[in-house]
Amino acid sequence: MELREVIGRRRSIRFVRPYQPVEMEKLQMMFEAARLASHWGNVQTLCGVAVVRDQASPELLEALNAVVVGWQLKLAPVIIVWYLNPNLVDQQPDRLRELVNIGALGFGPIEKKKEFLEEKFIPIFEGLKDMLRGPGISEIDCGQGIAQATLMAYELGLGTCLLATPNGEKILKILGAPEGCRMLLLQTVGYPLEHWEAGGQRPRLPFEQRFGLNTAKVPFPRSQAVVEELTRDKMFTRPAPLAEREKELEYLQRALDIKPPGLI
Ligand SMILES: Cc1cc2nc3c(=O)[nH]c(=O)nc-3n(C[C@H](O)[C@H](O)[C@H](O)COP(=O)(O)O)c2cc1C
Repeated sequence: MELREVIGRRRSIRFVRPYQPVEMEKLQMMFEAARLASHWGNVQTLCGVAVVRDQASPELLEALNAVVVGWQLKLAPVIIVWYLNPNLVDQQPDRLRELVNIGALGFGPIEKKKEFLEEKFIPIFEGLKDMLRGPGISEIDCGQGIAQATLMAYELGLGTCLLATPNGEKILKILGAPEGCRMLLLQTVGYPLEHWEAGGQRPRLPFEQRFGLNTAKVPFPRSQAVVEELTRDKMFTRPAPLAEREKELEYLQRALDIKPPGLI
């Protein structure tokens, strides 16, 4: 499937088949996709643990479930705990040396590049280390990794949904993550029980409101021909609400014995 179609069909899938396990190979592929994502200074702070429900301790399950969004987490056969390890920022000089040594960073004679790196570049980053360890730029890179894993999951026929948790510290402690790690998100993973459209494309703010050309005040000119091409390529799909959605939701709720009322 073309990337355009994958982007268009990826949805947050909240209803998955609780009885169907997810293959280890597929989870590995999600992690492989996350691992290849770019990261500032090639630091690679994104880490993840795949928690297989049937193998998880009651203590961990309780910590994972104790959030506002109860039922999604109770259904999914796998929950990936995505977290960020800021301690890896301390190894940044070595990551930069690797980049220079393999020719991915800088130009000119290698000895000159190494000298510049040691005398100028690394000291600049050392001065910024506290800021770089803190929340901000690394979270963006982690988001890119999670996005790649999410697209891979879709391509493999899996449905995923990202969920915030107030229980981050506790979960990371139970998992044995290194001291100082920050919880990012939980991601439920399973085979979709709902149709891939999941009720249709969710509304997005107008294109012109979000993207500019040369200044934030001038909207990027949105070409109708491009929109038509992406529609032909199935990146744009039927917008929500779909006529059949209410019936689908009633069916899913009955099948999964989810007690109404519920938003999420
Ligand atoms: C960073 C992030 C955190 C999210 N947290 C939650 C959450 O806690 N609970 C939930 O039900 N959905 C959560 N979602 C899913 C969003 O609600 C969803 O992406 C949005 O409604 C758009 O739907 P779509 O992903 O199908 O396009 C989260 C999504 C992202 C990207």
